[in-house]
Amino acid sequence: MPQKRRLLVTSALPYANGEIHLGHLVEYLQTDYWCRFQKMRGHKCLYVCADDTHGTPIMIRAQRDGTTPEALIKQSHEEHVRDFADCEIEFDNYFTTHSEINREFCYKLYSSMVANKHLDVRSVKQNYCPKDRMFLPDRFIKGTCPECGALDQYGDSCDKCGATYSSSEVLNPRCAICGSKPVLKSSEHIFFKLNDFKSFLKEWLPTHVPKDTARKLTEWFSEDLHDWDISRDAPYFGFEIPGYKDKYFYVWVDAPVGYMASTKDWCNRHGNDFDEWWNSPDTELYHFIGKDIVRFHCLFWPTMLQNGGFKTPNQVFVHGFLTVNGEKMSKSKGTFISARTYLNHLNPMYLRYYYASKLNSSSDDIDLNFDDFVARVNSDLMGKITNLASRGAQMLTRNLNGRIGELDNAGKALVKKAIEKTQIIAQHYENRDFGKGIVEIRAIADEANRYFDEAQPWLGIKNNPESVRPVLSCILNVFRILAICLKPILPRYTANVEKLFAEEPYKWADALSPLENHQIGKYEYLASKIDEKQIDKIVHDSKSGAQDTNKPSESKEKIMINMDDFVKMELRVAEIVEAETIEGADKLLRLTVNLGDETRNVIAGIKSVYTPESIKGRLIVMVANLEPRKMKFGVSEGMILAAGNSDGGLFLLSPDSGAKPGDRIK
Ligand code: MSP
Ligand code: ZN
Repeated sequence: MPQKRRLLVTSALPYANGEIHLGHLVEYLQTDYWCRFQKMRGHKCLYVCADDTHGTPIMIRAQRDGTTPEALIKQSHEEHVRDFADCEIEFDNYFTTHSEINREFCYKLYSSMVANKHLDVRSVKQNYCPKDRMFLPDRFIKGTCPECGALDQYGDSCDKCGATYSSSEVLNPRCAICGSKPVLKSSEHIFFKLNDFKSFLKEWLPTHVPKDTARKLTEWFSEDLHDWDISRDAPYFGFEIPGYKDKYFYVWVDAPVGYMASTKDWCNRHGNDFDEWWNSPDTELYHFIGKDIVRFHCLFWPTMLQNGGFKTPNQVFVHGFLTVNGEKMSKSKGTFISARTYLNHLNPMYLRYYYASKLNSSSDDIDLNFDDFVARVNSDLMGKITNLASRGAQMLTRNLNGRIGELDNAGKALVKKAIEKTQIIAQHYENRDFGKGIVEIRAIADEANRYFDEAQPWLGIKNNPESVRPVLSCILNVFRILAICLKPILPRYTANVEKLFAEEPYKWADALSPLENHQIGKYEYLASKIDEKQIDKIVHDSKSGAQDTNKPSESKEKIMINMDDFVKMELRVAEIVEAETIEGADKLLRLTVNLGDETRNVIAGIKSVYTPESIKGRLIVMVANLEPRKMKFGVSEGMILAAGNSDGGLFLLSPDSGAKPGDRIK
């Protein structure tokens, strides 16, 4: 038996203002597999997590829903706990960042920053909504994309053309909450001087984060590292910064501290010592995270810990993003699927098996392909693996009193081989190469099925049942070994296998001792195949009810305008007389339009759908009295109208025949 290790393992803390979805589950499931595996190996392993409760989006959502942030985070805590439990994810503690324990750790780390003089206070100009009386994070600014002219885009990036920019570049910026025009306003912010830790990070990164992540992060190290703005002005939902009025810690300061708080809360409730878990050199501390939050976990977090005199993580494990059928999860396609919607229609075991079969230790994205999902589950998990049990156990129970006998030589050889493979599978699991583990499991199942088919026990069972006992004993032993290996991935399934064999909960080492002369329990049905219709239902339900996480939701109020507002807008028929592409712009065309008595230059984001040739000479409708807008590629003097839909469709509006350039639309 290898030495007993002590592991402290975390998954990133999900935001409290969103539902758990299949993307999140890529992370929580792999961490769960890994921790369950470590526990089966006899190690001491603590898997902690919590809700990430602070920040602007939660505050705004509570306001919009007519509730308090406290009530909102309480409700989502309950929902998250239920979703995770129903997905068979077993945290040792699921805590919250909105807790006194967390505040204390947060203050401790902050006071070390103060004491060691790593802070700088200076004034910053930021967007401020005079009506809501608050500073607006980029995600709470909406406006026209400075690159492609798409309307109604977030203040940091454009969904239409994918450009990223700073909120000061957005054209016609608006407050996403109330629609008013933000103003620039200064306030004091507190900055953490990350650059003071450059040499620490240079040394730390290569050995504590994945190679490619370390390489990417250190690319910036030839220059000074940017200061990190750790403060936010009131109103904010979070922890106030000691010594300041109306200043709060940015949510990303207290969020990772939640790992410590969750650990401490567990220790308090289980009579354990926090320092022994977190700070002992004998504890291995691991964070599982997605590639989008690497900067926080690999630069700021280890630095905060180092400066505060706490132990830094042994490793940060970084995984990729989930795509569904090869694409980003999409609400309109019904592939933005919440855990709850999935659970309403399918057993979590299928997803657990499928993700495991796809996961590896790299940060490559992983794809949930519905056809492949059904095929892997139905043909491998059911057809190959479960089938061994249903065939073997039923025959043994019906004809041979359910008693496993002795193995013959062929059976011994096969079982021995399976036992040997458990070593390799364990190594793959240890390395988080779950997919490779599943390949081995499937290969053993294939071999056992071949052996069963060649032995043709269904013939012998009629005339000489006893001659068949060794075959069935072998098949069932191999199945048992596979079920032990699958236990971290399919805990409930394996619990039923434990019942089938009338045994205690399996440890990994139980695979080493085959069953001989052993009475099995009653065969109960272990699992059934996926019914594909269930997937259609999931997609259907996800289309109607999907929620995006952590983005301000569109205001539900319909804005009404009156006749005066309407007549202010001058809509006119125009003819596109010239159209050309613009160098360096993927989405834009430069148009010259004739308005009857004048011509105008218009820059329009329609290149993805129209070529210059296809629209020359066409009559369109335009807003003729829109203030000229200065864009990256020139000034646009008006806007042409097109219908759009969420699938990216774009349809220019044209008048019926007979209309002439300059005609006014009324
Ligand atoms: N609250 C922060 C984490 C704070 S940790 C101190 C956050 N929350 S999140 O809800 O957006 O994401 C939680 C975890 O799920 C992150 O590690 C993130 O990378 C992961 N995933 C969220 N969406 C995902 C996919 N679509 N695919 C794979 N993982 C994804 O970030
Ligand atoms: Zn506002």
